[in-house]
This record gives sequence, C-alpha cells and structure tokens, in this order.
Amino acid sequence: MDEKVCIVTGANRGIGYAIAEGIVQKGRQVVLVCRDEASGNKALNKFHTSYPQTAVELIIGDLSSIESVNSLAQELLNRFPRIDVLIHNAGIWPSKLTKNKDGLEMAFMVNYLAPFYMTHLLLNRLKASNPARIVLVSAGLYVRGLVDLKRTPWGDDFHKIKTYMNTKLCGILFMRKLAGMLEGTGVAINAVHPGVIRTGLGDFGGVIGVILRGFKLFMGSPKKGAKGPIHLALSPNVQSNGSYYDKTKEKALVEKALDDSLANELWDLSEQLCGIQVSKD
Ligand SMILES: NC(=O)c1ccc[n+]([C@@H]2O[C@H](COP(=O)([O-])OP(=O)(O)OC[C@H]3O[C@@H](n4cnc5c(N)ncnc54)[C@H](OP(=O)(O)O)[C@@H]3O)[C@@H](O)[C@H]2O)c1
Repeated sequence: MDEKVCIVTGANRGIGYAIAEGIVQKGRQVVLVCRDEASGNKALNKFHTSYPQTAVELIIGDLSSIESVNSLAQELLNRFPRIDVLIHNAGIWPSKLTKNKDGLEMAFMVNYLAPFYMTHLLLNRLKASNPARIVLVSAGLYVRGLVDLKRTPWGDDFHKIKTYMNTKLCGILFMRKLAGMLEGTGVAINAVHPGVIRTGLGDFGGVIGVILRGFKLFMGSPKKGAKGPIHLALSPNVQSNGSYYDKTKEKALVEKALDDSLANELWDLSEQLCGIQVSKD
C-alpha cells in the first residue's frame, strides 16, 4: 500500500464512491469524506469487505457552511500528516432556493465556496506533500453559467436549472486563478467534466424529475464518470495545471471562464465570506 493519501469528498455514493474505489484498486490510501454518518459507514464497510487489505478511512464532514468546512479541514489536518491528492467531488443541484446559516445559497456554498475554503485550509499540507494534486469535479454545463457577484452568492438570481451552472462556472474561475498562484509549488489543480452519469444528482420531484429519471436509464455508470477524475488525480501523464478536461481529454475553456477580472472579484469576495486573506505572492 502506497503511503500517499487521497481525499475524496462526497464519497458515499455516485461518482465519488466510484472515484474512491478506483483509487483503492490502484493501491492508494483513500479518505472518504461523507456528511452522513450512516451512509458513510455503509460505504466504509463495503470497502472493508471488498478490499480488506487496503487502507480506507472515513471522515464525517459537511460542506454546507463556512464553520463546518473549517471543522472538517481541521479534522483532516489532525488525522493526516500528508495529503497528496484532494478531490473536490461533492456537489448538489438544488431544485429550490435554500440558504445556509451564513446566508449563502446552498449550491454556491457546496459546489464552489467549500472547495475554495477547504483548499485554502489544506494548502500548506498539500505543498509539504508535493508533488500534490487538486482535482475539481466540474460540469460541462459551466459553459451556460453566468456569475453575478451581487446576486449569485445569496441566491437572489436563483433558478432551478441555471444556479447549478453558475456555481460550476465559479469553480472554473477559481481553478484557473489558483493554478496561477500554485506555479512552482509542486501542487497542481485541474478541473474535469465527468460525463453525463447516472447518479442521484438533480433528483427533482414533479414532471422534470420523471423525465430526468427516464433519461438516466441511458446515462453512463458512476465507474465511467470516475475515469476522468482518477486520471487527473493519479496519471503520470498529467503534467497540466489550470486545465479543464472533458473526461480524460484536455479541452479549451470558453471565453467567459477566462475572465480574469471576474475571477479576481470572485476571489476577493470569497476571501471576505470565509474571513481569510490569502497571500497572492
Ligand atoms: N452525474 C452527472 O451527470 C454529473 C455531470 C457533471 C458533473 N457532475 C458532478 O459530479 C460530482 C458528483 O456528483 P454525482 O453525480 O455523483 O452526485 P450524487 O450522486 O448526488 O452525489 C453527490 C455527493 O455529494 C455529497 N454532498 C452533497 N451535499 C453535501 C454536503 N453539504 N456536504 C458533504 N457532502 C455533500 C452527497 O452526500 P449525501 O449522500 O449525504 O447527500 C453525495 O455523496 C458533482 O460535483 C456533480 O456536479 C455530475
């Protein structure tokens, strides 16, 4: 068993579980980050049964508020002296506006601000473990995102289809900016669209839900969706930093994702929301 530690958020089901399983099959240690204790333990037991020789650990952590992300990161720092791979996989596609206890729209928090803040809190540990990699599980739908910094973080522009896309664009803006700051540190970040995959994501009720469940019969398996993230996390062929991948293939970003001034404004706002100030040197 390799000493290197790979952290996967949202690892109890869907693509996250399949990513964790693929990494274990490659002989790496995996830390499953799950918000629900019962389903986290169920996933852990499945790993212990199927892969008794491998080191798989479970950390219970919720990405839904600034305080809970902080507690999760502190727990990870206390438990793991090295962090070689950090995979931000957890995500939601909410059908209605929900705000967290910080007053922030929930998908903005879970899909974007949690990876932003968690990365910041774990960055020195990643740097000390270099070469290290950060993988952001994004979505091809980022191309349809629009970020309005006066409204998006608080859900003032909430829309049950568009909000998800907006948060995924936020993630790409963050990924590119961080990549520039990571040059020369031995840590790289890249983002990946896993494909259109049959999981619980966006399980809406009503007519849209019924239609979506019909489509899901034709979607790829979580194992297929895990291929891109695993490639970015572990493949020696991946030398990139700040790149976007469609599954395992690098793909150019659309122009709106290259908007440095929006990325800088989003970064500054995110620092304020998390109460941090990152040295940009
Ligand atoms: N499925 C697709 O077609 C597709 C396409 C493009 C991108 N993606 C991206 O792939 C990633 C994984 O999605 P999926 O399709 O596997 O979805 P999923 O089956 O719904 O799984 C989502 C995971 O995120 C976790 N999660 C949600 N809220 C959380 C919170 N507050 N704190 C911690 N964990 C939380 C869930 O935990 P619980 O079980 O406790 O809810 C679950 O483990 C997401 O980032 C998604 O945007 C998926």
